[in-house]
Amino acid sequence: MTLFAPSGPLEGTLRPPPDKSISHRAALIAAMGERETEIAGYLEAEDTRATLAALRSLGAAIEEGGPASASGGIDVRVTGIGLRGPGERFASGEEPSAIDVRNAGTLLRILPGWLAGQGDGVWVLDGDDSIRRRPVDRVAEPLRAMGATVECRDGRLPPLRVGGAALRATSYRMPVASAQVKSCVLVAGLLADGETQVTEPAQTRDHTERMLVAAGAALTSEELRTIPTIGGPARRITVQPAERLEPGRFAVPGDFSSAAFLAVASALVPGSRVRLVDVGLNPTRIGLLGILHRMDAAIRVEEDAAAGIEPRGALDVRHGPLRATRVHAAEVPLAIDELPLVALLGCFAEGSTVVSGAEELRHKESDRIATVVEGLRGIGADIEAAEDGFAVRGTGELRGGRLDAQGDHRLAMLGAVAGLASREGVEVSGMEAAAVSYPRFEADLAALLDRAGEASPGTT
Ligand code: S3P
Repeated sequence: MTLFAPSGPLEGTLRPPPDKSISHRAALIAAMGERETEIAGYLEAEDTRATLAALRSLGAAIEEGGPASASGGIDVRVTGIGLRGPGERFASGEEPSAIDVRNAGTLLRILPGWLAGQGDGVWVLDGDDSIRRRPVDRVAEPLRAMGATVECRDGRLPPLRVGGAALRATSYRMPVASAQVKSCVLVAGLLADGETQVTEPAQTRDHTERMLVAAGAALTSEELRTIPTIGGPARRITVQPAERLEPGRFAVPGDFSSAAFLAVASALVPGSRVRLVDVGLNPTRIGLLGILHRMDAAIRVEEDAAAGIEPRGALDVRHGPLRATRVHAAEVPLAIDELPLVALLGCFAEGSTVVSGAEELRHKESDRIATVVEGLRGIGADIEAAEDGFAVRGTGELRGGRLDAQGDHRLAMLGAVAGLASREGVEVSGMEAAAVSYPRFEADLAALLDRAGEASPGTT
């Protein structure tokens, strides 16, 4: 149990840990490259360690340069095995041992796209208890349409068995707005026999597209206004087959989703004033900023002029009064991992905060509609679940109590932030889950509290 006591203000400047989504992709695309790729500031956390281990098992040579930086990034050098590398090494016909993705949904969904295009190789992907509850039929379906053999437990869950093939190009319309599925099909498209198209019902994070283009792939993306969408606008991404990828270098910005916990803590704890620097500001990730703006939060964004393939900049967040807002389907993919924080913000806002069109939350590291509603209600929130979201009645405060992280890193950090803003504090059980994306979360929080001359969170 870790107690997060009601706190005085958070103050100071901090760089959040490197972006998890971009780190996974940087390692994967580097392994698909022919030569050496340098990844500056790779996230040192459990999820992204799983990706390095998986790629090593496929034959990529990965060198880690020294200890992690203060923000939790390591410099990594990957000598790739080439787009068609895994097939050449593993087409032995033997049943392989499973690749352990641990808790990493992004690895589980994107890696099969690469493996599916590898001649007659066979791979099995498996992970922890949480990963075994996460649907993979969403990637199995398009990969089968491209000619791969993909089997999963009960037709939809890991372990996932991928049998490679000479892939056919496809035009795939995704039923759910998922960046992981989109990325999987785009990677498979690099290995297909012609132009592959993926249509997403609403814009999702576009890191894969940016990074593949940077690595030399021929990829275009267009907005579609004509087809009915879940809120749209829909997008179509087209990728051409590639001979090789040459990424050269990737620089990973700070993770907006991790920074969001500190930003919301600063918005909720009276007197707080926090500056978060070098944060990734990709427009497809920062839906929370629009939501915070509508809630009247005191937040200022400064974009760095000389950013690379990913925009980055600083966020200044101060405490202030909040009012309720509504979040609809079109905004959901742009704030998907921050919606638990919207529920917490809603507790302190005037009026009812409603999130709808977010059924995808049920397929995250936990069923985040159920776990967020249960967790926050247990510490005094007036919150109701819906099939596709939740509604919170703001009371301007939160009592506190106990919250079980249920093995979900974002739920653990949500409980911690709730504790600082609560009347009686929150005891979080399973705080160690935070190490999946943000191993230094407690230390960073303590630093912001210490700088304001207050006690830091303690373990009981
Ligand atoms: C991710 C995409 C999102 C997000 C997840 C990471 C990614 O999932 O919730 O934490 O790295 O592509 P979906 O693509 O399934 O929506």
